[in-house]
This record gives sequence, C-alpha cells and structure tokens, in this order.
Amino acid sequence: MSGTRIAGIGFHVPERVVTNEELTRWMDTTDEWIVERTGIHERRYVKKFEETPATLAAQAAAIAIERAGITKDDIDFIIFATLSPDYFFPGCGVLLQRELGITKTECGALDIRNQCSGFIYGLSVADQFIKSGMYKNILLVGAEVHSMGLDFSTRGRNVSVIFGDGAGAVVLQPTDKPGQGVLNTKLHSNGTYAEKLALISPGSHSGYHNRHIPEAVDYGYDHNTDLGGTFVTQKMLDDGLCFPTMDGQFVFKMAIQKFPEVIQEALHQAGLQVSDINMFIPHQANLRISQMVQRLLRLPDERIWNNIQKYGNTTAASIPIALCEAWEAGKVKEGDLVALAAFGSGFTWGAALIRW
Ligand code: UT7
Repeated sequence: MSGTRIAGIGFHVPERVVTNEELTRWMDTTDEWIVERTGIHERRYVKKFEETPATLAAQAAAIAIERAGITKDDIDFIIFATLSPDYFFPGCGVLLQRELGITKTECGALDIRNQCSGFIYGLSVADQFIKSGMYKNILLVGAEVHSMGLDFSTRGRNVSVIFGDGAGAVVLQPTDKPGQGVLNTKLHSNGTYAEKLALISPGSHSGYHNRHIPEAVDYGYDHNTDLGGTFVTQKMLDDGLCFPTMDGQFVFKMAIQKFPEVIQEALHQAGLQVSDINMFIPHQANLRISQMVQRLLRLPDERIWNNIQKYGNTTAASIPIALCEAWEAGKVKEGDLVALAAFGSGFTWGAALIRW
C-alpha cells in the first residue's frame, strides 16, 4: 500500500490588513491588551461581497495545484474545511470546484465542519482515500472568512480581536517512497462542551418555522417565548446569538492540555520522540497557547512556526497557511518530520505526523 504525500502547497490571504489600532475604532480594546493576551498585531479581512471562503480557497488551491505539477482537471476529490462557509448549504466544496473551473463530474466534493481541527480531520480522510487507492490527486483546503460574521461591538471583543480571514491548500498524492508522507493522524472529540465555543443561531434547533419547538435541547433560553420560533429574530440579534461566543479561559485551559497530549500520542504510535520533530506547526489559536505548548514539549524556537502575529486565528486555514510559509522559508525540507496539531470548537482536536 502506498503512502500519502503533500505534492503541492499554497496559501492566500486578502490584501486588506486590519491592525489592532483599527479595531479600537469599533470597540473598547487596546493594541496592548490584544498583543499581550494573544500575540496578534494584525489580521486580514476580505473585500466585502467580493471575496469569500471559496474564492480565497481557489487562489490558494491554484498555487498548490501548480506546485504539484498537475492541472485542475487532475483533481479527483476536493475536501473543504471551514466554519464560515459561503452559504448555509450547499457546502464550499462544490463552490470551489466551480471557482476552479473543474467541470468533470467524477470529481467528488466533501465539506468538513470541524472548526480549528478541520484541516487535520481532512488530512486524515484524504490519507485513507489515497492509501486505499480510491483517489490520486486530492485537493484539501482550509479557508475562512470570519470578518463577515463577528460582533465588532465591545460585547464581542474577546472573540472578534482574535480571528482573521485566509486560506491554505494542499494537493495530496500517493507515494511509494518508503517512510515518506503521512505517518499517522490522531483524531479526538468531546461534545460535552459544544457550546463553550459556538455560533448557536441561526440553526435548526431554534426552528425555521413559526411552530412549537420540542424541548429536547436546553440552551438556557425559552425557544418559544424568547426566540419566537422563527429563523432569525430581533431577540437573537439583540442577544448576540448570531455571533460566535467563547468561554475563552475554559478553551485556553483545555487547549494547553490537549495539544501536548495528542502530539505525544501520535509520536508514541510512530515510535518517535519530541526530539525527532524538525518542525511543529500548531493551529494558530493564540500565541500564548503555542508558546505554552512549546515549553511543555521542550521544543526549541527554531522547531516551531507561528504566524498568528500577522494573520490572527484563521481556524481551519491556520495550519496550511503556516505550513506553507514554513516551507516557503526553507524550514521544511525533504526527509523532515513535521508535526501538526489543533484544538478547538466541538471540542475536536487532533495531530498528524508527516515525513516530508
Ligand atoms: O482557535 C479556537 C480555539 N480558541 C482558543 O484557543 C482561544 C482560547 N482563549 C483565549 O485565547 C483567551 O481566553 C482570550 C484571548 C480569548 C481572552 O484572554 P483572557 O486572558 O482569557 O481574557 P478574559 O476573557 O479572561 O478577560 C479578561 C478581561 C475581562 O475584563 P474584566 O472582567 O477582568 O474586567 C474582559 O472583559 O479582559 C476583558 N477583555 C478585553 N479587554 C480589552 C476581553 N476581551 C478584551 C479585549 N480588549 N479585546
């Protein structure tokens, strides 16, 4: 059975740079607070109504496809990870297919909704498809447009200062070179804390029709009287239910526990150690999280890549963007052991080890 290698990689971020200073015009925050608590200096935002996750993804994908030495028509499967899709449905996979001008219908498209760990989940799925021989050129992307859906008032400041827009893409192909490619992937989830980092409405739980909602799910408010049972109500908007909310400290504590745990799990299974890692690419959640994980793993500075300072947290896109930057900077070379890890909403988390 062949392995799965990354044959091409690319990323694309919108041109518009939004500094911390710019955010202070809309909410009560400061550059000092954001830098001290998150490490972020600036992020990118799309041109409203012109750029979307699918269009950002298409730009990143075009680079990855070219670097893989193939054409768009060679792609036989698309996996698209995002929490901020263009539409509620259909998913972004088919929109990316259309953006790229892939007209062959033999190409499948799958959407992944695993938030921060979406890229690692997607990599794991792609790896199984390649190893089974089902597909030969899988395009895996992570792309997000957060800026169109954040609460830019002071109420939403703990979330909105963190997130940014961007896309990263890889082309995955079989390899027969012994030891090369994806060594393993480890996936985890714990739905107990689903609402600790979530965007609750609109969603089917609050109903599309003006009818009685079964009392199966208790989110702490009365569906019928508070929300009226319609799709989006003024009450939902006033209560901020249409924006993402996060219990930041809770998520933070879980993240610094789960990141090292899942990396050690992957290393253990592969018979490797932290000292074997040449480059660690953590999901860019918060620079303080990455630094704590680095300390816990005792990884030297030159073996970790962080770019949250420039792009903020781009959720499913953050790992492929950081991996691409590290590769472009010559920090990921053939034969290197690359470790990827992510933790986020769900909670879902995971790790992947790749021999480049
Ligand atoms: O990628 C998905 C996974 N997400 C994460 O991993 C994020 C994990 N969590 C975090 O990164 C951090 O919890 C945050 C950066 C979100 C928040 O940092 P924190 O140090 O945990 O702050 P906090 O939420 O405990 O808030 C501390 C104070 C509060 O004020 P009081 O109650 O002490 O007066 C907040 O209201 O900071 C206030 N605050 C802000 N002040 C200025 C919260 N956000 C801001 C802000 N600017 N943007």
